[in-house]
Amino acid sequence: MNIAVFASGRGSNFQAILQAIDDGLLPARVTLLVSNNSNAGALELARSRNIPAIHLSQKQFSSEVAYGDRLLELLARHGVDLIALAGYMKRVPAIVIERYRNKILNIHPALLPAFGGSGMYGIHVHEAVLAAGVKITGATVHLVDEEYDKGPIVAQKAVEVSSDDTPESLAARVLAVEHEIYPKVLAAFAGNRVHLEGRRVWIQ
Ligand code: GRF
Repeated sequence: MNIAVFASGRGSNFQAILQAIDDGLLPARVTLLVSNNSNAGALELARSRNIPAIHLSQKQFSSEVAYGDRLLELLARHGVDLIALAGYMKRVPAIVIERYRNKILNIHPALLPAFGGSGMYGIHVHEAVLAAGVKITGATVHLVDEEYDKGPIVAQKAVEVSSDDTPESLAARVLAVEHEIYPKVLAAFAGNRVHLEGRRVWIQ
């Protein structure tokens, strides 16, 4: 299975995916890294591993369709079977979602459908979790469809909130769980162990 990783930031989930491949836990290759942010740590990481790394932003194009066409061309050229969004802060163009239906995954640092959607990214998620007083949070891997943070949930793992947590301490514990579950879900896709029935997705 050839994976494209889309990342906007430091790329620790990307790193976890590469580590799982190195450790023989994920039978796949990352054949492309796309970032909308030219300063992303993820771009540097890809380059250090000789993985084709492309800085691509919608701003460079006259329309979403033109941007999507370019992405589709890159994905085809690198033989991409599955797209893993890993801290990707931009919307995936509709034509890419259409072409890669049920083949785009995202990781979110909370238990969706809670604490998702507009404004719920990065540290804001953990601030909102603490402000709401919930006792359990966690990480979610879901399929990406046209609605932000709303695609079918593939896997979740809980993290307990403790009374002395700060947004940062919580973010760190959730991130460790992200690094654990994302490669496992990707391995399930690689092994054809994922079953879809409407919004219900099961890993066997
Ligand atoms: C992660 O918390 C992920 O859930 C969210 O963005 C963050 C990316 O972190 N979507 P990294 O770039 O993988 O370190």
